[in-house]
Amino acid sequence: MTKRTVHAQAGKKDLLDIATLSRAEVERLLTSAALLKEKQRCGIPHPLLSGKTLGLLFQKPSTRTRVSFEAGMNQLGGHALVLPMGEIQLSRGESVADTARVLSCYLDAIVIRTYDHAIVEEWAREATMPVINGLTDLSHPCQALSDLLTIREKKGRLKGIKIAYIGDGNNVANSLIEAAAKMGMVIALGCPAAYQLEQHIVDRARVEAKKTGAMIESSQDPHIAVKDADVIYTDVWISMGREREHARRLKVLAPYQVNRRLLHCAKPDAIVMHCLPAHRGEEISAEVLDGPQSVIIDQAENRLHMQKAILTNLLGNRSRTKR
Ligand code: CP
Repeated sequence: MTKRTVHAQAGKKDLLDIATLSRAEVERLLTSAALLKEKQRCGIPHPLLSGKTLGLLFQKPSTRTRVSFEAGMNQLGGHALVLPMGEIQLSRGESVADTARVLSCYLDAIVIRTYDHAIVEEWAREATMPVINGLTDLSHPCQALSDLLTIREKKGRLKGIKIAYIGDGNNVANSLIEAAAKMGMVIALGCPAAYQLEQHIVDRARVEAKKTGAMIESSQDPHIAVKDADVIYTDVWISMGREREHARRLKVLAPYQVNRRLLHCAKPDAIVMHCLPAHRGEEISAEVLDGPQSVIIDQAENRLHMQKAILTNLLGNRSRTKR
């Protein structure tokens, strides 16, 4: 089976990565999220997923992803069910295949946060319900989609907007470069040699950029990367699962802190983004994270609106597919 990451299989779609979403699909998600946000703000009920049930299976901690999917599903008139990893038979050795097939009989979709990306790909192959990647070691597509919404709100457009991603080339960075390439943006990576993005993701983004007019730049000097940036984006230096590398990462990444000095190299009206949780004093200084150019709370809020757009896109008008 090919590694298509958003694909139709047995009449269902999954969201495992940004790469195989078309630009038109991303545009539709952005429009839908903005509309759902407006309805929520105006108190207009929008029970588009009444009677549907979403499962949430998280093998790593989460605040934003888990709560925004759960609250979003409730606001759409459906129901969300958290499946604590330690309380299901998967933790005692039941196979992904059996679990995915059985849960497909009860649920309408599932969000999975796990380590190896191959695990969500296996879920997508085996489940007859849509599978949504709630973060793997490789990618975080739901985060990147909601970040596009935030950038479009703050800057009025996406095409030509320059994002500087500074620090650890992690799963968030992998999805961000794919999203930027898809939407014809300029993305400048400012990451040290030891912590670059996955090469195959960068190569794939370069191919996409040729089609969309996006530009991908890379420098190990963060000051060069942020020059004339509209958006400065960073993330934690020690992602979940990397705790044993703590001391080395702090040392290597220290010159990549987003602070006032670095911010001065960007455009004067640049916004600062961080997907959170943040470690003030490590990847970003407190004065920048909590300063006037930071949009982190709006960015976190948009997780909710984009999750609702993703859910309505994958589940709307879809009856449950039984094996
Ligand atoms: N940004 C993000 O995914 O946050 P959580 O880890 O809290 O879900």
